[in-house]
Amino acid sequence: MCGIVGYIGHAKAGEILLKGMRRLEYRGYDSAGVAIKDDNNIVIEKKKGRIKEIEQDNIIAGNAGIGHTRWATHGKPSDENSHPFFDCDESIAIVHNGIIDNFVTLKESLEKEGHEFKSQTDSEVIAHLIESHYENDLLEAVKKTISQLRGSYAIVAIHKDEDYMVACRNQSPLVIGVGTDENMVASDVPAILDRTNEVIYLMDGDIAKISYKDIELWDETGANVTREPKIISWTVEDAEKGGYDHFMLKEIYEQPKAIHDSILGRLGEFKDVDFSKYNIDMIKIISCGTSYHAGLVGKYIIEEISGIPCMTALASEYRYSSPSDIYPFTILISQSGETADTLAAAKEARRRGCKTLAITNVLDSSITREVDEVVYTHAGPEIGVAATKTFTTQLIVLYLIAIQLGLKKEKLLVEEADELRNQLRRLPRKVEILLNNTDHIKEISKNILAKSEDIFFVGRNINYPVALEGALKLKEIAYIHAAGYPAGELKHGPFALLTKKTPVIGICVKDQTYEKMIGNIGEIAARESPIIGVAEEDMELQKLCDELVYIPDIQPLFSPVLVNVVMQLFAYYTAYQLNCSIDKPRNLAKSVTVE
Ligand code: M6R
Repeated sequence: MCGIVGYIGHAKAGEILLKGMRRLEYRGYDSAGVAIKDDNNIVIEKKKGRIKEIEQDNIIAGNAGIGHTRWATHGKPSDENSHPFFDCDESIAIVHNGIIDNFVTLKESLEKEGHEFKSQTDSEVIAHLIESHYENDLLEAVKKTISQLRGSYAIVAIHKDEDYMVACRNQSPLVIGVGTDENMVASDVPAILDRTNEVIYLMDGDIAKISYKDIELWDETGANVTREPKIISWTVEDAEKGGYDHFMLKEIYEQPKAIHDSILGRLGEFKDVDFSKYNIDMIKIISCGTSYHAGLVGKYIIEEISGIPCMTALASEYRYSSPSDIYPFTILISQSGETADTLAAAKEARRRGCKTLAITNVLDSSITREVDEVVYTHAGPEIGVAATKTFTTQLIVLYLIAIQLGLKKEKLLVEEADELRNQLRRLPRKVEILLNNTDHIKEISKNILAKSEDIFFVGRNINYPVALEGALKLKEIAYIHAAGYPAGELKHGPFALLTKKTPVIGICVKDQTYEKMIGNIGEIAARESPIIGVAEEDMELQKLCDELVYIPDIQPLFSPVLVNVVMQLFAYYTAYQLNCSIDKPRNLAKSVTVE
C-alpha cells in the first residue's frame, strides 16, 4: 500500500516526482525516496518519515526517475527499508507496491549467487532478480523477473544505460500518464494530474516500456497491445483541499454534491445493471471497514425495499469461510476498489459460482475486473484516510439498487418507487441544512468528547450500523476508544462500563424501535453517563439527554445518511480539538492493498 511515481521527459524529474508523491502520501507515509537518472548514473535519496524529510540538496539533476511513498509491510520503517532499491552495482533502481510472497526463497538463492542485500524488505529481491537477468535489455530482464514472482506488485524499474522505464502490475494499481514529449507512471491519478489528464490504466499482467515519446504495452499473454488513453475530468484542485483545513472536512462538505452526482440520471429506471439477467432470491454483501458498515445499512435497505433476504460478511472473514457459504448474488463494496481483502473475496465468490456486483468509487479500479457488474458511486476523489462521502454515496447506490430490485420482484409499486426516489432527491438539501448548523456539534466535541477516554455509540435497527461507523470514525482520527452497540445490547454487558466519565451518543430515529430507544436512553441516564442524543425535534428526549443534536425530519429508512454526517462531524471536530493528524491518522493508510 504505497505510492509510486515515475517520470521521463525533459523537465527536472526530482521536482516532478516529489510533487506527485505529495499527492500520493495518503497511500503510505512512513518513508519516501526518489531515484534520479542522469547521463551516466542513478542516485537515490530516501528517508524514513514524510516526504519533507528527503534532503532536496541530495537530489541530482536528471530528466528521468522514480519515486515512492511507503507504508511498511515487510521490514520496519527505516532509511534502509525505504524505496527505491538498487541492485548490487547500482545500475538498476526499482520501486514496488504490494507483497512478494516467495521473497524468502528468492532472496536465499540470490544470496547464494553473491547478491548483497541492504534491507529487510521483500521488494529488494526485485532489483537483484532484474540484475541477475540483465543482458543489455531492461524490458527482457523485467519480464524474466516477474515470471518468478508470486504475490502482488506494481513495479517501476530504470537502468542507468537505458532511456526508458519499465512498469508492470499484478493486483496493485498502476496508471500511465500520457504527456507530450514526456510520460509518467503512478499508482494513482492525482500524482500525474499536474502534467497530464490522459491516462492508460494498466491491467493485471501488463508490462509497459515507457520512454519520453513512446509507450509500448504487452499483456499477460505476452501479446503487444494498445490501450486507449482515457481523459480524466478530475482537476488538480479536485485533489486538493479547496480552502478547508483538512481533506476530511472538505469531503464532508462535498456530500450534498456527491449525493446529487450519484443520483444524477439514475432516478428514472436504474440502468447501470440489468437485473433481469439474474435470479436474485438472496444477497450477500461483503466489504471492510466503513464499506462494511455501508453493507450493514444496505442489508436493512435491501430487505425493507425489495424484500430480498440479505446477509453481510467482512471480506477478511468470508475468504476463509466454509465453501458451502454460497449466496448466488454477492455485492462487494469498496470505495477504492483496491482493498486486498475485498478483491480476494470477490475472486472467491466467483470461484464459488456466485454472480458478483461491485460498488466502487474508482473508475477501472482492480475490483471492476473481478466482478460481473459494476456500479460507481460518483463521489469524486477521496483523499482523507477516513471514508466520508464515499460511505454516503455507497448508501445512495444501495437505495438505487434496492428500488430496482423491489420493482423487479414486484414488492414495490411504481408509485412507491417514485416516492422513494423523491426522498433521495431531497437528501442533498437536508444534508446541506445539517452542514450549515454545526456550532452545537463543535461545542459538544470540544466540551465533552475531546475530554473523554471512552465513548459509546448506540442505535437500533438501520441506525445500529451507523453507531458502529460513528465509533470507528472517532477511533480512527481522534484516537479515542469508542464502541458501537445496538442499544438493546448494553444491558447484556457493557452497562458495567457506564459511569459519569463515559458519554453515550444515542441515535433516536422515529422508526418502530423509537419507544424502546427512549427506554434505553432512560436506562443510560440512570447510570449518570452524559447522553448526547441525535434525533429529530422531540420534547421527551429533551428531558432525558444532556445534549441534543437535531437532524432535519426524514423517513427513518433514509435517516442513516443524515445521522452519519453528525457522526463524521463529531469525529472531525474532536480530532481537530485534540490536534490529531486528521487526514493521515497514525498507522493507517487510505487503501489497504495487503491482506
Ligand atoms: O476502499 P475500501 O472501501 O475497500 O476500504 C475499506 C476500509 O479500509 C476503509 O473503509 C477504512 O475502514 C476507512 N479508513 C474508514 O474510514
